[in-house]
Amino acid sequence: MSKTNVPRKVIGVLTGGGDAPGLNAVIRGVTLGAHSNNYEVVGIKNGWAGLLGVGDTRPLTSIDIEGIHLLGGTILGTSRTNPYKHENGLRELKSNLSKHHIDHLVVIGGEDTLSVARDLCSDGVDVVGVPKTIDNDINCTDYTLGFDSALNVAAEALTNIHTTALSHRRTIIVEIMGRHAGWLTLLAGIAGGAHLILIPEKPFDIDETCRIICKRKDRGLEYTIIACSEGAMPRDGELILRSGKVDEFNHVQLGGITEQLAPLIEERTGIECKYVILGYLQRSGPPSAFDRVLGTRLGYSAADAVQRGIFGRMVAIRGTDIVTVGLGEALTNLKTVPKAMIDEFERYLRID
Ligand code: F6P
Repeated sequence: MSKTNVPRKVIGVLTGGGDAPGLNAVIRGVTLGAHSNNYEVVGIKNGWAGLLGVGDTRPLTSIDIEGIHLLGGTILGTSRTNPYKHENGLRELKSNLSKHHIDHLVVIGGEDTLSVARDLCSDGVDVVGVPKTIDNDINCTDYTLGFDSALNVAAEALTNIHTTALSHRRTIIVEIMGRHAGWLTLLAGIAGGAHLILIPEKPFDIDETCRIICKRKDRGLEYTIIACSEGAMPRDGELILRSGKVDEFNHVQLGGITEQLAPLIEERTGIECKYVILGYLQRSGPPSAFDRVLGTRLGYSAADAVQRGIFGRMVAIRGTDIVTVGLGEALTNLKTVPKAMIDEFERYLRID
């Protein structure tokens, strides 16, 4: 209750989907922005799951958010829950919003979480979205939150693997996250000195891959580092999956392509080939300086959008500006690496 005894409006904030460094910076930014506009903030625990059943929330005070932008993960927890896949999900969600006195929502998530946000707007809930995913595959924003941090981890791993590859004269494939988009693999590959980069946007030819490894050896370069996206696809094959598991958004669990690729390459080239799956290390740990700042700005702007009554939209970074864009437009399709950029980056890999 405010000093004037007029109940203050409440913003509910949740984080959904895979965690990503910078989420806590957004939570802090939302709370700072909300407080400056005389709103209260309630944290919803474990993504959309916190609005199902009896609901699971916690108040967020200025003490709760002290210094959290320095931390990875999310203090609210996350999940891949889709309320529309639960019987009475929408009804439970709406009744929890009113039970917990939540007037508006700020939803921090990737494609799946934000598509629920978009649909909720049509179902009468006031939502502002914040784009987060290490995959960087949301349209209408130059970057998604978490991408820069993951890029630094993946680039550092590729840089470091050079010494082992060189010492043992091995081919090493480093498997990098990114379901349908190769942003992380491509940029980390260039930054971390990979010699071959395999991404979902351009199906690869295993014979060509082996030819380049052998050509390097003929030139006296007895080692090769391959940056391989978990969603990379062989030209004449299918997506290689280790598990057939599907989440509530019908997404298959990726991972494991390098496990299958390494022995094939070793057999065809006669050169020892190993693999490393970076996995969750890419999403773990503290956010980069860029993501701390981006998260803070996006969160603060999302609270501002609530105060101005701008719903059904997502905050985004364009150049150095924070803007809002329609959730519908942002989610029409995934932002994949354009062909021109793939062609450009291939020039940086060529050996004659
Ligand atoms: O969408 C982000 C992401 O990190 C993908 O790159 C990866 O395929 C997926 O999440 C892994 O999800 P989970 O945490 O459910 O294993």
